[in-house]
Amino acid sequence: MKDGSWVGFNTLTPTPTAEGVMNKTEARGHVQASWSSALGRSIRHRIRFPPPNGDGTLAQDEAFFHLMEDGEQRTLRFHDYGEIYRRPGLYEQLFYDRLKCQSPKKVASVLGKVLRDEGVYPSELRVLDLGAGNGMSGEALTANGVARLVGVDIEPRAMKALERDRPGLYDQYYVWDFTSLDDEQRQELAGWNLDCLCSVAALGFGDIPPAAFLQALNVVQQDAWVAFNIKETFLDQSDKSGFSVMIRSLVLSEYLDLFHLERYRHRYSMDGTPLYYFAIVARKSALHIPEEFADPSD
Ligand SMILES: C[S@@+](CC[C@H](N)C(=O)[O-])C[C@H]1O[C@@H](n2cnc3c(N)ncnc32)[C@H](O)[C@@H]1O
Repeated sequence: MKDGSWVGFNTLTPTPTAEGVMNKTEARGHVQASWSSALGRSIRHRIRFPPPNGDGTLAQDEAFFHLMEDGEQRTLRFHDYGEIYRRPGLYEQLFYDRLKCQSPKKVASVLGKVLRDEGVYPSELRVLDLGAGNGMSGEALTANGVARLVGVDIEPRAMKALERDRPGLYDQYYVWDFTSLDDEQRQELAGWNLDCLCSVAALGFGDIPPAAFLQALNVVQQDAWVAFNIKETFLDQSDKSGFSVMIRSLVLSEYLDLFHLERYRHRYSMDGTPLYYFAIVARKSALHIPEEFADPSD
């Protein structure tokens, strides 16, 4: 990984699309096999990473990079998803090319392995992809084969990017906030008979809060499979973040049965330090998981 050097150029213009909800029938074109073929190898942005953050005090969600565009330097945070998604190929170039994120494939592959061991056909699953972004996780999940794939993200530009980059990948995609689902939205989700919840690179760190993850757990069926990844410190009692406390209590509870827990390299930091996460596959064992799990202070 190079610091201080500008790399690449951008040749594509985003395609404008409607906001709200998208389904396959509205999608243009075909699902693509991989991001490089979907977006074209020629799309390169000029990205520069700041010098190493010597004392390591910058949190993962505070990390930023510089982007040279139209002769101007812009500074974007890693969590400026709207700004990142609206530039074709930037998300993939940043997280997958430069920082070697392998989480979508990892989570999809451990889920596939557990299902095979349990004699379940992934091709029969009806999956909810929470924090679906522009479809990297959905693309990995469809490699296992799925019966239905429903995506949800809070960021409207994620859906626009999905329509632009991977049209037709999801059967339905919602731009919804799961912390405040109304009855109509819950009913609509129930209509999909979802029996698998996946969330990749989207839990914690200022992304999906515990309350939204709990809502998602409660809209999937009683015995639904649950596959996600989380920072390695989640097993450490000293990690008191809401997510870690919630996941630790859930996997030790009667509401979730743990099938697979694997430490792996999620990606590199900008300084080249490997960031380790756990990939987790579990199965729900109750229809309703009490709200208290999302509020560990109670
Ligand atoms: C790092 S991206 C991961 C995207 C995709 N899952 C992947 O593997 O490439 C995190 C995503 O979580 C979404 N997100 C953050 N908070 C959210 C929330 N409360 N509800 C739904 N999505 C959220 C962000 O908009 C972003 O698209």
